[in-house]
Amino acid sequence: MPSIIEAFQSQVGRKILTGLTGVLLVLFIVFHLVGNLAIFGDPNAMNSYSHFLHQLGPLLWIARVGLLLIFVVHAWIGISIWFGKKKARPQDYKVYSSKGGPSKQSLSSRSMAFTGVVLLIFVIFHVNTFALGDMGTVTVDGVEMHDIKTLVLDTFANPFYAFGYTFVMMLLGAHLGHGIWSAFTSLTLSSPKASAMVYTVGVIVAVILAIGFLFIPLYIYFAGGCEAALINCN
Ligand code: HEM
Repeated sequence: MPSIIEAFQSQVGRKILTGLTGVLLVLFIVFHLVGNLAIFGDPNAMNSYSHFLHQLGPLLWIARVGLLLIFVVHAWIGISIWFGKKKARPQDYKVYSSKGGPSKQSLSSRSMAFTGVVLLIFVIFHVNTFALGDMGTVTVDGVEMHDIKTLVLDTFANPFYAFGYTFVMMLLGAHLGHGIWSAFTSLTLSSPKASAMVYTVGVIVAVILAIGFLFIPLYIYFAGGCEAALINCN
């Protein structure tokens, strides 16, 4: 069995590691979207959910460090694959076209490095805004907890954040649109027919995730936070 270092060095090993870390990141993103949609539920749902996660203590920190490692490995190998391709073909193709069948050339596939780097920079700013952000506290059923909900509502009242997030969530959709298919192709020996199906399913999942995420800032901005029909603050 190859060691992790050997896996990093071989072309196939690196594809498998990007696929594996990509699948784990998609699982995190699904989990994260479900947690964020709690803003539209019971007035205390989002704060209680966040409080529950923080109560996990050391388990939360293990999950955070694991997630960070997964992000770093995924980004590092992704960038090194891109540089490898650039080195092999320094001159860009004049005209791009998909060969059909298993080939999935598209704007989304060609911009994976760009969308990936933007997402990486986004996550650094995002964690600083929300996970490490300055927030007040609220008391729910006698328990004092961080008021993450007000921080989210205040943040997206600002057009710079609302539209900035909307743009980045579109890039997330583009990244996942190709990434989900690519991860499954790297991890399984799928037939061309299965590959076409996985591609379609991947694009549908990517569009649902992107719409789910970008709906949050846009709705908060246009509908006006606590005054909005879907957000109950009391
Ligand atoms: C509208 C979109 C999003 C909203 C409203 C949102 C909201 C939040 C909030 C409120 C937190 C803090 C959670 C807490 O401390 O309880 C958080 C943390 C985080 N978010 Fe997001 N998020 C969004 C999109 C994303 C996306 C697309 C990614 C990844 C690509 C992401 C990655 C993270 C990470 C890594 C953390 C830190 C987790 C932790 O340390 O506990 N978020 N987000």
